[in-house]
Amino acid sequence: MRRRLLACRFVLVFTLCTSSVAHAQRDCSERFSEFSAPISDFDTQINQPSVALAAERPVAVEGRHGMVVAVSAPAADVGCEILKRGGNAVDAAVATALAMAVTYPPAGNIGGGGFMMIHPGRGCPPVCVEYREMAPAAATKTMYSLKDSKFGHKIVGVPGTIRGLALAHEQYGSLRWCELVMPAVRLAADGFPVDKHLAASLNGVLGNDGTKPYSELLRVFATQNGKKWQTGDRLIQPDLARTLHRIACEGPDAFYQGAIADQIVSEMQSGGGVITKADLARYHAKLRQPIHGTYRGYDIFGPPPPSSGGICLVEMLNVLETFNLREKGRWSPDTLHLMAETMKRAYLDRARHLGDQDFIKIPAHLTSKNYAAKLASQIDKTKATRSEDLAPDIPLADEGTSTTHFSVVDACGMAVSNTYTLEFSYGSRVVVRGAGFLLNNEMGDFNWKPGYTDRRGYIGTEANQIAPSKRMLSSQTPTIVARNGKAVLVTGSPGGRTIINTSLNVVLNVLEFQMNLPDAVHAPRLHHQWLPDRVRFEGVGQPRFADLVNSLKARGHILDEPPRRQGDAHSILVDHQRGVLVGVADTRLSGKAAGF
Ligand code: DON
Repeated sequence: MRRRLLACRFVLVFTLCTSSVAHAQRDCSERFSEFSAPISDFDTQINQPSVALAAERPVAVEGRHGMVVAVSAPAADVGCEILKRGGNAVDAAVATALAMAVTYPPAGNIGGGGFMMIHPGRGCPPVCVEYREMAPAAATKTMYSLKDSKFGHKIVGVPGTIRGLALAHEQYGSLRWCELVMPAVRLAADGFPVDKHLAASLNGVLGNDGTKPYSELLRVFATQNGKKWQTGDRLIQPDLARTLHRIACEGPDAFYQGAIADQIVSEMQSGGGVITKADLARYHAKLRQPIHGTYRGYDIFGPPPPSSGGICLVEMLNVLETFNLREKGRWSPDTLHLMAETMKRAYLDRARHLGDQDFIKIPAHLTSKNYAAKLASQIDKTKATRSEDLAPDIPLADEGTSTTHFSVVDACGMAVSNTYTLEFSYGSRVVVRGAGFLLNNEMGDFNWKPGYTDRRGYIGTEANQIAPSKRMLSSQTPTIVARNGKAVLVTGSPGGRTIINTSLNVVLNVLEFQMNLPDAVHAPRLHHQWLPDRVRFEGVGQPRFADLVNSLKARGHILDEPPRRQGDAHSILVDHQRGVLVGVADTRLSGKAAGF
């Protein structure tokens, strides 16, 4: 009952706020332009090659009126242009997401799903627009075997992106829907020059043996001259332009009930997929109350289940707050040991308890300070606890390699943190014939085989088993940190299960270790996900961390080979003292901070 009352209160406050926010945006009186700080480095951001450990320290871009930071430069420019035209952060986020469906096909999408955190400011509560994919009605607990492919029609979840963007726009947007879609239509119709990272990514998927059966993907992303993609080549997508034009003119129903829905269903039928027109018509995005925590006086907001991100992030911050990490130092063995031990425990809770909150009961204690104190007291400060000793019965399942995160803040301080995905790079590899867009392979995020858990990484726990209309558990963690009701940090990342820890690393770097944003984003990241029982640290192999790595090993941690990179955290810091927005595009892939 108490939960229901809280939910009702949330809906009431939320409704009052959304109606006023959209109208308040254009005559915002708190513009950053009133401050006198200079704009620096505005045009100096360039795309970087896809190398992690050698990646250059990112350049901070400052703006006073608005900022969009994304992996795709043309898409960040689209969002920035929307802000310049007077759109608010949600308008810019919707336009950026749609543009990335064109300019970043590995993960930008209209055939997938995600989570959009919105901090409207002006005393209105933050909200999460949840547009996670959904299991179709025909889905069953045992529809997959462990040997099934993670590509193809059968693994597609009902897409949520268009409903999610439309819901965000309906509640908070201030420009017309078609104005937000048309830049994406133009990018698809006219094409855009691919950058080095995208050229390599396209060559990778086109040359991959697993892609061979997917002829529509091979056709849609082929070069015009039959050679490999080179930096600067133009990617033109006429089918996608037509699809987006329909969405611009007819609205989201075109996707879920109209001509595009027909195309999706006929694609499904041609390849043994189970999504029907009724599944598409039934899909809706949800407004959910974010997970809220605090860290040293800052408010932390993250997405609630079906994402595990908000709960795990807040749980880990609560535990780490009990130690004085700043005094120990960012690169002391104590700090990294405590981080790894904390991660282990939160990821165990993830495996044990988390799934779609509309189907299972999530224990409330996970984000409490009392529970954190108990976990903190169980950590041995001198040696690593073996994951198996924490709970031998529940290993974790495998995840993919592409998702994307972008951040937006407008002149009024409204902030949007958006992560969305197709699950793997290029998702299921199924492009809807004639419609030009990829479908996700998100059904792979469920626990596939009930009751079957093993050390190779499969779990069969109840919380995240398949059921019709259920949403699969996610790690996406679009994060907003606020103080006194104003957003101060917007961050998030791709990276499967590493996502939550990437957000944790960035948040700690800023709040606990008081790093500036380029350093906070650039710093080597640490990851432990309970099982496998291994620490991943981007600094392994760097001479300056040799002693640190040896100390961790001496405490019993097993360190992985240096990972190529961990995440891609396109972030914004709102410097309220100077009145500037500081945008930082992570250089681990490519990207741009577009501000003005
Ligand atoms: O929702 C999730 O947690 C996963 N489907 C995300 C996959 C991912 O991040 C792959 N990325 N690099």
